Amino acid sequence: MGTNQETSKDGADPVAVRERVTAPVEAAGEMFRRFWPLTRPDRATLLAAAVLLIAAAAADTVAVLMFMNIIDGAVASGRMSAYWVPAVTWISVAVLAAVATSIGSYLSARAAERFLLRLRDDTFEHLQRLSPDFFERHPTGDLVARFSGDIETIETLVSSGVVQAAVSLVTVVFFAGAAFWLRWELALVVVALLPLLVQVTRHFSARFRTTTQDERTSNGAISDVVEQGVANVALVQAYATEQVEAGRLHTEGRAWMRARLAQMRLTATYTPLNDMFESFAIVAVLGVGTWEISQGRLTLGGLIAFATFLGFLYSPLQRLSGLVLSVTAARASSDRLAEVLETPPTVTDPPDGITTPAREGRLTLMGLGFTYPGAGRPALSGLSVEVTPGRLVLVTGPSGAGKSTIARLLLRFYDPTAGQILLDGIDLRDRTLAALRHSVTLLAQETVVVDGTVAENIAYGSPGAQPPAIAEAAQAAHAEEFISRLPEGYQTRLGSRGPQLSGGQRQRIAIARALLRDTPVLVLDEPTTGLDAAATAAVVPALRALMRGRTTVLISHDLRLGPLADDVLVIDHGHLAEHGTHADLLERGGLYAQLHHHQYGPVGPQGPRPVSPVPAPARVALCDPHRSFVGLKLGA
Ligand SMILES: Nc1ncnc2c1ncn2[C@@H]1O[C@H](COP(=O)(O)OP(=O)(O)O)[C@@H](O)[C@H]1O
Ligand SMILES: [Mg+2]
Repeated sequence: MGTNQETSKDGADPVAVRERVTAPVEAAGEMFRRFWPLTRPDRATLLAAAVLLIAAAAADTVAVLMFMNIIDGAVASGRMSAYWVPAVTWISVAVLAAVATSIGSYLSARAAERFLLRLRDDTFEHLQRLSPDFFERHPTGDLVARFSGDIETIETLVSSGVVQAAVSLVTVVFFAGAAFWLRWELALVVVALLPLLVQVTRHFSARFRTTTQDERTSNGAISDVVEQGVANVALVQAYATEQVEAGRLHTEGRAWMRARLAQMRLTATYTPLNDMFESFAIVAVLGVGTWEISQGRLTLGGLIAFATFLGFLYSPLQRLSGLVLSVTAARASSDRLAEVLETPPTVTDPPDGITTPAREGRLTLMGLGFTYPGAGRPALSGLSVEVTPGRLVLVTGPSGAGKSTIARLLLRFYDPTAGQILLDGIDLRDRTLAALRHSVTLLAQETVVVDGTVAENIAYGSPGAQPPAIAEAAQAAHAEEFISRLPEGYQTRLGSRGPQLSGGQRQRIAIARALLRDTPVLVLDEPTTGLDAAATAAVVPALRALMRGRTTVLISHDLRLGPLADDVLVIDHGHLAEHGTHADLLERGGLYAQLHHHQYGPVGPQGPRPVSPVPAPARVALCDPHRSFVGLKLGA
């Protein structure tokens, strides 16, 4: 069973594999194009670092030539007088090289770290603008891995030196030039060995890239399994599926291990192979060098200087070939970050968008239609409705009818694929997203408590809200009482380590948060689902306070809320099936009446019969002075 999975994974997609194996130079070029614009603010620093490091390389070259001078001029002939000039020159350039290297390395590291900071910030900012379907396609763990591991891989490349690479290249040119100048026949011997080295490096980097991609993918998969396992731990334990989850982790862990071992195998072969070539080169140089000295074409100092240049060449060359490997590794990570960065947000600010929020809250849906990206059939079509400011509209219908889709379109998580939505006569797409979201508040079914105090939670979305305003919102949301009983009141920390709030309490915090934002339009998606009768009873008055005086789109399959609404829209298969008041629709005996019948039994001549969905006797009076009587009875 495991083998099946393995073969399908390895033989996954031959086209993709071929596409992945590109030359490192091409990879470097691609990454350069991708990330160069991000370095703009640090280009002066980069330039300064490069100049300093190149100066250091030049100083090193001069130092070796002074070495040669001392050997040939002073050591060989035993003349002290010939010692001083090269010695002092050598010391001066050594000091220069030390200072230049130290400042240059710091500057290049600084540019690299600032680049990474910017890369992370930009990627996250972009990520937060992407539409919900992106997050459905990319599991959380995988995205988290991109922000940790992949950024780290790029950091290794960038800090180990894009600048260092340029400098290594210049150093190689300097030292190689000096070697040729000293004795070109000797240098040719070394050059003859180069193609072999290049071929080997190319072969290794191609394979290294494939394994790195596998390693990154497995890393994302591991984070994902752990993330889900922890998030769903209650379900896992309750259904005794620990072994299944452990098995999943093991499978991904094995894939990761295989990729790592393949990487290790490659490095373990590559490095010694490199060392071996170096020995070949040295032995060959000594042979040819001895021959040249015997023919009187080279001095001992010349040969030593030549060998020193070769030795000095070794480390920048080594660095360059190491860089080829980290470029290859970073390419995979860069692709994974680029996938985030290059996914365009499906909704964007219009050029010259209107920046003022709506004031009235008049909603007009005109021939509204929407098909989810990749979905075959539309989730909504031909929906036309007008909602006058301050009215409460109940949107109901069977599950999957398209109710939540309306909420997503009202908040512009997606843009309609047909028709349009006007808010105060202006198409939603003509306002900036910030202005739109200061016009419309969404209260989702799943209430989110962010990490922070109660006060911070209520003020989330209203930056700068003052404590009195926060308290007022909490009071209106009927949350004040339980907040005052928390250990530190408004300063109690909520979140994973804070006290556990009940569903109804969380919902009232969310209502206070929505109240504080005070927008003309309110969209509620199933605000009472998941709450029991007692919690609903506690939440409904808070909801009423929230809805008062605002255009409210209340999405619910709970028809006990029907009498509350000025208008009821019944959605079925993405179409507007019925439209009217609660009483009208019951009388009409259509879909609404049927749904009502399923929930609460037949409707008698005197109107809907109150039915108790739960035995707990709880009575909620929904009397609103601003509306005609709305009575709601829960329990017997
Ligand atoms: N992200 C999505 N991608 C594709 N189809 C979706 C997506 N979300 C919802 N749908 C489909 O759109 C239809 C309406 O969904 P939704 O508006 O959530 O229904 P509900 O009325 O239960 O709130 C359903 O058929 C659902 O399967
Ligand atoms: Mg829904």
